[in-house]
Parts: sequence; C-alpha cells; structure tokens
Amino acid sequence: MNQHARLDPAPIPFIDVAAQRRRLGRAVDEAVARVLGHCQFILGPEVREAEAALAAFCGARHAVTCASGTDALLLALMAKGIGRGDAVICPSFTFAATAEVVALAGATPVFVDVEEDTFNIDPRSVERALATARSLGLQPRVVIPVDLFGQPADHDAIAAIAAAENLFVLDDAAQAFGASYKSRKLGTLAPATATSFFPAKPLGCYGDGGAVFTDDDGLAALMRSLRVHGAGGERYDCVRIGINGRFDTIQAAVLIEKLKIFPEEIEARARVAERYTRALAGLVAVPRLRADRTSVWAQYTVRVPAGRRDGVAAALKAQGIPTAVYYPRPLHRQEAYQDFPLAAGGLPVSERLAQEVISLPMHAYLEPSVQDRIVAGVRQALGG
Ligand SMILES: Cc1ncc(COP(=O)(O)O)c(C=O)c1O
Repeated sequence: MNQHARLDPAPIPFIDVAAQRRRLGRAVDEAVARVLGHCQFILGPEVREAEAALAAFCGARHAVTCASGTDALLLALMAKGIGRGDAVICPSFTFAATAEVVALAGATPVFVDVEEDTFNIDPRSVERALATARSLGLQPRVVIPVDLFGQPADHDAIAAIAAAENLFVLDDAAQAFGASYKSRKLGTLAPATATSFFPAKPLGCYGDGGAVFTDDDGLAALMRSLRVHGAGGERYDCVRIGINGRFDTIQAAVLIEKLKIFPEEIEARARVAERYTRALAGLVAVPRLRADRTSVWAQYTVRVPAGRRDGVAAALKAQGIPTAVYYPRPLHRQEAYQDFPLAAGGLPVSERLAQEVISLPMHAYLEPSVQDRIVAGVRQALGG
C-alpha cells in the first residue's frame, strides 16, 4: 500500500457534473420516467416543451432543437444553401466544429484572427478575410462569430460588416448560451444562433444535443424539415436532402429541468469568475469581460508566459488540480484544416494564445475553499 496515498489532496473535478446531478436528482429522474412512461422517444412532447422554454428564455421567436451543436451549425448552413464556391468566415481559435460544418457543407472556411483581450473574432480581420476570399474567386456568404469561453463576440461590429457586405451571420454560441450583449441575450443577436447542450456546456443535457435560434419563420421551417431527412408535409415525403438531426426526447426532458436552475447557475458562475479574477490578477493574465456584456464562463481561461504553461499544468496536476488547454493549436495549424485560406496578414493573436492559454476548473458548484486551493496552487506553480 502506498504510505503517502492518504496525504494526497483530493482531486478536484474540472467540471462537476455530479454536483448538479445531486441537486437535480429527483426532478430529472421523474422527468426521464415520464418519457419512459409515454414511450414517444422521437420528437415527443418534451421536445416541443423544451423548444418553447428555450425560445422564451432568450427571447427568440423559434428554437429548433437538434442532435448536437455541430448539427445546429450545419442545419443553418444547409438551410441557407451554402455550398461549393462559397466562403464562410470564421475564427481559427475555436473548437473544430465551427469550421468542420463549413467544409461538410462543401464551402470553404476562411480563417480570421481573434482579439487579444476577449479571444473573440476580430472584426478587422473579417474585413481582410473578405479580400482574401474574393482574390481566390470565392463568394463570401456567411460569417460565424464564436462567443468563446462564454463571452459574446462584438455583435454590433460583425452585424455592421455583414450588412455592408451582404453576409449572413450565424452565431456559434455553443459555449455561451445564456450570456448577453448590450442587455440582449444570445439567440437574438444574429439571424441564426447555434448552441450545444453537450454535458460540459454551461447549459448541458445528459448526452448530445443542440439548437438553432431564429426569428425567421421560413428559416425555422426549413431547419425543422432538414433535421428529419428533408421531410415534406406527408409521411415519407422527401422534398430536400437533409440529415437525421433530431433532439432526443429523453435529453429534452433533462434539459427542461436544467433550464429551470440555469439563471441561478449563471449567477453562481459569475461569482466564481469574479473571485478568481480578484485573487489571480497580478499573478497571471486574467480574462477580460467587456463592460457591455455578460459571460456564462464556460471556461475560466488565463494566460501564462509561453514556455511555462506545461510546467504550471504539471505542478497543478501534482496537487490534484486539473487544467485544460483550449486550444493548443488553432484550426489553421491542424492537419485537417491547414490548406484552407487565412485572412491577409495571418493570425498572430491566435498563434500566441495557443501557446499561452490555460483553463482552470470552473462550474457553478465550485466552493470558495476549493477555489482558494486552486488559487494557492497557481501561485505555487508560478513560484510566487
Ligand atoms: C465553439 C463550439 N462550436 C461548436 C461545438 C459543437 O457542439 P457539439 O459538441 O454539441 O456538437 C462546440 C462544442 O463542443 C463548441 O465549443
């Protein structure tokens, strides 16, 4: 037996899904039991109920649920008829799904840089990407701002470019549903907004799930058809090529219960983030939240000097404190995406962030005492 085992500090979860599960246990069990009772597993009544609740939550006219955040993005692109010869402008410093769906649709992602302080799409880089796309004979059709780590992108700036250049804005709010920009919730800031209910997201279910929000009746109807194999009005009537992209009824039942406590959880996340920021400012580069926005803090991501990150992660790991790097390589440096075009001038901020960012444990149930241990661990890891 390891003599030291009892002295090791208890490992801290990076995201404590189990704490929320304990809080919601009975309500979720009963919601799932209701589905098991009525057996309408595909597009059952809970799916419609979840859509109504999600739309009401953010103020969008429609919430079209689907099987994942990736499908949400894909459905919107398919509904807009995006394909070969089209350029879709998106950041490189994001999760792969943002650009993956563009390639799946047959279009070309054109990568842009992000802002140094918010990690979000840089509107100036979007202007440069338009020139790149046109020089390659591509037609710019869509821009996908990503609301990274929970903070909304600069939606007014993106909307202004989109209006001037006739671009459709598809907001990738997979990490930020529940956040707001100038007092408006994500879901209402772009003509279409995609989100993910992956369990680790601020609003997750117990499996995969996603949704697209829109005020456009026609777009919503198209996406409802596309998520069921391009179905028309009659059974087995296929009027367009679609996918099997439905939201699962059991997941909808789970989500309905989770949405009820989501506002409280958003507040708890904000408290955790503020506490981190007070304790860590001066020690590491802490995340900056712009004054006109709220964040749902999907990640609490700090920056440490390049070259020290691995040491910091290892020192924290030795103390039972997990960290994660989102993202160690921007998409344009990944094998699958390296041949797609970049905005003129390159993406120096994305390259730098990929070397320096490190995310700390973050969830609504992070106790102050545990947070203090994490902060002390960071201080010790940096030799401070
Ligand atoms: C920015 C971003 N876009 C899209 C997705 C895709 O969502 P999902 O995993 O539900 O397909 C994710 C999350 O995983 C994400 O973080």
